[in-house]
Amino acid sequence: MNFEFQKLSLSHAMTASVDALVVLWPSLVQPDAKAVEPVTRLVAQAIAHGDFELKAGAVLSLYSQPGMATRHVVVACSADNLPGQIRSAMQAAWGALKASKIKRLGVHVLGEATAQGLQMALSSLADASYTYTTTLSKPKARTLKHVQVSTTHDSAELRLAVVHAQALVAGVELAKEWANRPANHATPTHLAETAKTIASGRAFKCEVLGPKEVAKLGMGAFMAVAQGAAEPLRFIVMRYNGAAASQAPVVLVGKGITFDTGGISLKPAPEMDEMKYDMGGAASVLGVFKALSELKPHINVVGLIPATENMPDGLAVKPGDVVTSMSGQTIEILNTDAEGRLVLCDALTYAERFKPRAVIDIATLTGACVIALGAVRTGLFSSDDTLAIQLQQAGETSGDTCWRMPLDDDYAEGLKSRFADVANVAGRAAGSVTAAKFLQRFTKSFAWAHLDIAGTAWRSGAAKGSTGRPVGLLLQYLLSLSAAPSAMQADGKPKDEDKSKAKTSGKAIVKDKSKARTPGKS
Ligand code: BES
Ligand code: MN
Ligand code: ZN
Repeated sequence: MNFEFQKLSLSHAMTASVDALVVLWPSLVQPDAKAVEPVTRLVAQAIAHGDFELKAGAVLSLYSQPGMATRHVVVACSADNLPGQIRSAMQAAWGALKASKIKRLGVHVLGEATAQGLQMALSSLADASYTYTTTLSKPKARTLKHVQVSTTHDSAELRLAVVHAQALVAGVELAKEWANRPANHATPTHLAETAKTIASGRAFKCEVLGPKEVAKLGMGAFMAVAQGAAEPLRFIVMRYNGAAASQAPVVLVGKGITFDTGGISLKPAPEMDEMKYDMGGAASVLGVFKALSELKPHINVVGLIPATENMPDGLAVKPGDVVTSMSGQTIEILNTDAEGRLVLCDALTYAERFKPRAVIDIATLTGACVIALGAVRTGLFSSDDTLAIQLQQAGETSGDTCWRMPLDDDYAEGLKSRFADVANVAGRAAGSVTAAKFLQRFTKSFAWAHLDIAGTAWRSGAAKGSTGRPVGLLLQYLLSLSAAPSAMQADGKPKDEDKSKAKTSGKAIVKDKSKARTPGKS
């Protein structure tokens, strides 16, 4: 989808050549019943007659009025312009429009538009209008291609926000596409091919390892998960070098289980189809790289994806089997359905070679996280307070929110094993925390965070589909780093070069750091 920004008054926005216009109307803007401009007058009349209210998500549809170049204008109230209110206004506006085959849509934001608000409006519109088509024989494709955004005032920040929104939407939609594809259309090999395509430009590199190379690295935990699968495993290594080679990279590790049957610890049949989404972490890493390829920020990023199916088979790993991870730690696999942590632990060990500034893994890791946080916030686990606060803040700014969970060592008690250094499962209690405690054993040499997206990566039920989360959170975090270069370089020495690169893209959406909250501590 293509976004274009213009500074326009409301009456000029109405004369733009678009198929329909959405006017985002905050509660603070009171319409004047005597205004010459027709939309303002009609809104005032509708309010006076009790047919419209200035509350979040309320919409008013207006047709073919004099002074309106477009046939259809939808006024949607964004109340106090909070992220959730802008989102429901855009959803409601799209709901009022979607029957018509709109190709070009105008979006006019009344009042004091902010970078964050514009980004939220555009990403919500993209989200509401997204349709999956790949495996349908007669798909109803989305007609909306072009969005003309306008505000009554202009600033470099607003313009940048629109550029960022376009890259964000491209990244989110790539993640949605791959997560939504059924497992027979999204194999480890397919993911690797996609990674190669995304990382084909200048400043990018992509290397794909197969079973032989992974065996040579000693990734015994990853291989144990893959040994029951007919589809060959892939270990995908993507690199984006937007800054000096001396600048330590952020490493993103995405769980890439292209289908999770549970293995020999087989899952029950109901909703098992949803385990095609078990590569949602991998899809979000691909999505972030897609956005990086459009924005080219001054930062270095590595993407690692351990990709395989988890299948029951004569050759599959069995409960009680002990394997040796790349780190040298032995693992007793008591439950073959706790496979995510097994593929991730070897990828985390592999991440050490990049001497990273931070490592963030993203995984549909535990059903327990769905019970804890539902579909609203992603579970955040981190041994590093600075990193945790940065990610929380990126979540609040982007509207792609997370919530910090504990990592007390007492939670690791249940992972003790008589037959190996560690077991891959503990009891039922605090399942998302014990999973994180397992991963933490492989992260001793860097700042680490783990995002459990089991509840947020996709929606179930009638509107089943990938959400593209947490591409928004991750991109926001990376752009905030590119705006504030790290004080340290890879060798740990303070750095003084690269000062000119401080004033880059991220600035527009980096909000006041003093507002950073620590949920749970407030
Ligand atoms: N991919 C699942 C986690 C999952 C389940 C995400 C349901 C979203 C919805 C993961 O591999 C898994 O099976 N985890 C087990 C761990 C258990 C065996 C300790 C779980 O959560 O049940
Ligand atoms: Mn599983
Ligand atoms: Zn899984």
